Amino acid sequence: MTTYQPAPDRYERMEYRRCGKSGIQLPAISLGLWHNFGHVDVLENSRAILRLAFDNGITHFDLANNYGPPPGSAEENFGKILKEDFAGYRDELIISSKAGYTMWAGPYGDWGSKKYLVASLDQSLKRMGLDYVDIFYHHRPDPNTPLEETMRTLDLMVRQGKALYVGISNYPADEARKAITLLREMGTPCLIHQPKYSMFVRWVEEGLLQVLEQEGVGCIPFSPLAQGLLTNKYLKGIPADSRAAKAHGFLKEEDVTPQRVDQIQRLNAIAVERGQSLAQMSLAWLLKDQRVTSVLIGASSPAQLADSLQSIKSKAFTPDELARIEQILQ
Ligand SMILES: NC(=O)c1ccc[n+]([C@@H]2O[C@H](COP(=O)([O-])OP(=O)(O)OC[C@H]3O[C@@H](n4cnc5c(N)ncnc54)[C@H](OP(=O)(O)O)[C@@H]3O)[C@@H](O)[C@H]2O)c1
Repeated sequence: MTTYQPAPDRYERMEYRRCGKSGIQLPAISLGLWHNFGHVDVLENSRAILRLAFDNGITHFDLANNYGPPPGSAEENFGKILKEDFAGYRDELIISSKAGYTMWAGPYGDWGSKKYLVASLDQSLKRMGLDYVDIFYHHRPDPNTPLEETMRTLDLMVRQGKALYVGISNYPADEARKAITLLREMGTPCLIHQPKYSMFVRWVEEGLLQVLEQEGVGCIPFSPLAQGLLTNKYLKGIPADSRAAKAHGFLKEEDVTPQRVDQIQRLNAIAVERGQSLAQMSLAWLLKDQRVTSVLIGASSPAQLADSLQSIKSKAFTPDELARIEQILQ
């Protein structure tokens, strides 16, 4: 047990936004543990990031069965830090996990069957040392399993008390509407959708955001900084300590094209005019839309998190700034 004492004024430092038409409010900024929390990473750095997050009112931590590497190790490390630092604070936290991508060998360790999802959630609870997760997501649509089976399984998890709420991730607009309708009919409303959304990835604007608003479902964009592209990280090439340079990083060197770097530099110039870092402006750009409940960021250091947290201080954009940003993104 450590002697960590969270900042007493943490709830005054954060803005909370209602998640769709539900009783849950989420912090405008949530922290994801996809990278930087696995067994390949330095545990004390992970701990420092989590402490800083909670000290600044981040109450929502997002995991998945496969986060690491190796898969499962982010949940193990999170469980360890939870026990050592946050044991007295479980009721102040919204902890999510997911299943839907490859987790173990054979036909029952992937996609969306009841067999896979039930076993995976049990494994996640064990790794984190939890009795329940606050949100359990189906991680990606499964073209071969009936949607009814997958949604019936989410409903079952809530009825069993292993998840308080459920969500879906990476579902396109039509499929999302079907899933949301099925869940509502079963008596377990869909709390939230987790899509990829940033200035560089905008498919959600073509229907999904509208569906979520109509259905009263929250939206938590993942990779809002485009895995670091929408920060000052790649302004001058690819640094050695970056996700793009790491062998296990999901951002690849070939994603950092000269055209991208040109866009990043031009966006950065607008951020500088606004008195923000590019990370802050990129998050503010998403949060200006009330349909976005929370932005789900990653961070490889406490300093990055401290920088990103400042985004909530300046979310307003002038029409001229918005037009110039659009022009750069064309
Ligand atoms: N549902 C899904 O399918 C799915 C998929 C992906 C992610 N997610 C969720 O979304 C979370 C966030 O994803 P993400 O990590 O890709 O998010 P992101 O916020 O777009 O990228 C995070 C990375 O950007 C860099 N960075 C962050 N803040 C910075 C700052 N202020 N200044 C400079 N660089 C900064 C760091 O890169 P370096 O490491 O290079 O320093 C950091 O690791 C994940 O942890 C996970 O919970 C969900």
